[in-house]
Amino acid sequence: MAAIAKTVIATGASSGLGFEAIKQLLLQQTQPYKVILGARNTKSTIAAFDALAYGRSGHAVTVLPLELSDVRTVKSFSQQALEKIGGDKIDYLLLNAAITNGAEKPGPKGWRWCESVVVNHFSQHYLTHLLREKLVESKSRIVFVSSGAIRRITDPSVLDDMLKSASGADGMNVYCATKFVQLLNAHWWRRQLAGQCDVVAVSPGLIPNTGLSRGNGLQLSMDMPDAKPIETGAQSILAAFTRSDFPSDPDQIFLTSWGDWWGKDIIEQSLDKNLQDKWSWSKEEIEKEVDTMCKFRITVTLCACQDPACKRKTDAFGQLDSEVMQKHGGHILWISTYLREGPLCLDYFTNEDPNRLVVRHGMDRNNGNSKQDCKNRTFIIDPNIKRCFIMCDPCKDLCDLLPPSLGSPKSQEFRPVNESK
Ligand SMILES: NC(=O)c1ccc[n+]([C@@H]2O[C@H](COP(=O)([O-])OP(=O)(O)OC[C@H]3O[C@@H](n4cnc5c(N)ncnc54)[C@H](OP(=O)(O)O)[C@@H]3O)[C@@H](O)[C@H]2O)c1
Repeated sequence: MAAIAKTVIATGASSGLGFEAIKQLLLQQTQPYKVILGARNTKSTIAAFDALAYGRSGHAVTVLPLELSDVRTVKSFSQQALEKIGGDKIDYLLLNAAITNGAEKPGPKGWRWCESVVVNHFSQHYLTHLLREKLVESKSRIVFVSSGAIRRITDPSVLDDMLKSASGADGMNVYCATKFVQLLNAHWWRRQLAGQCDVVAVSPGLIPNTGLSRGNGLQLSMDMPDAKPIETGAQSILAAFTRSDFPSDPDQIFLTSWGDWWGKDIIEQSLDKNLQDKWSWSKEEIEKEVDTMCKFRITVTLCACQDPACKRKTDAFGQLDSEVMQKHGGHILWISTYLREGPLCLDYFTNEDPNRLVVRHGMDRNNGNSKQDCKNRTFIIDPNIKRCFIMCDPCKDLCDLLPPSLGSPKSQEFRPVNESK
């Protein structure tokens, strides 16, 4: 294989049609491929690819963690994938992962939308946002694995109600709605990246022997009219990598499993630009949806100074805006507990710095909680504050008020604030 390797980033290639499509790329010997796959079970995916007899000298497979119901992993996947690619191009972005779960349960990780639309659409749209610069630089081809099921959405006004978290809609209806929304999004990206990247939506056809019906229990069988084997379905997907006979009308982005570009009359409902815009959120809107700020609840001991305008009060821990601090006055001397409230956000990290803020305020540097950090974190100061009996030395010099109790340096004890009255 003398040709320069082409790079593929793919979702949903750990099993089913995606696995078969990548397998077919790896088992041919004319064109080398570097594939970077996102998988929720990296171990079994690596084992599945290791078991294939493909030429290791030409091709290379990297499997990275990706759980599409959790956009934090989408962010880390994009970062790791870009690091792996380095100065190379992304030739193809294959967006193939999908599930068919109904919308009975609340949405994952704070989403107000059901898991299926998060996995099948929002997360893969977010991934495209995160890779955008590199995709443009590479003049990549973006392949959305779509479905003939999009034709079942004849009235797009049902989408909101159906795809909301815990809407109760069944797996088949939700699946069709998510594939329709995904096609709206493919049109949107085609418009955004016109002249920069090729965007193709492709249907593999009716392929019974995959894991797709796990979520809705729908029984597909090879006896059904038009049913095709998985090898044929994967070939239909791969046709979207190479077809260059794009119709002159740029809206005709849908390649069928029999090789035709669907006419606009068939995909008409998905051509509504307002609807495309509505479902194609900005990166920031997606991050906001999943509550991007880590929140921590802290219990604190305050200096004896009760001045609401205490000169030692800084913005550390949000003291300046805190109603609790306003009510009690003084400043935080140290914190005794520091506990997460709610989910991790996208900017979470583990902070091992021995001089980190919470350690400077009295927490044990080996306490695991004290290592939780986030560049966008916010704090809730627990109203059950304690107060030190005496003023700290800097306050003695600065404070205009007298300390409430003289005490003595030897009796620096703590007691609940209601006992100190
Ligand atoms: N089969 C058909 O008849 C048919 C027809 C039309 C269109 N399609 C489309 O073809 C594509 C592939 O479907 P398939 O039939 O091959 O289904 P499949 O066997 O269930 O494969 C789905 C793939 O998506 C991955 N995936 C699912 N949820 C994920 C998550 N939360 N995070 C990360 N990855 C996740 C799966 O990973 P795991 O290995 O971990 O499960 C698997 O790799 C889908 O877009 C589907 O809509 C299929």
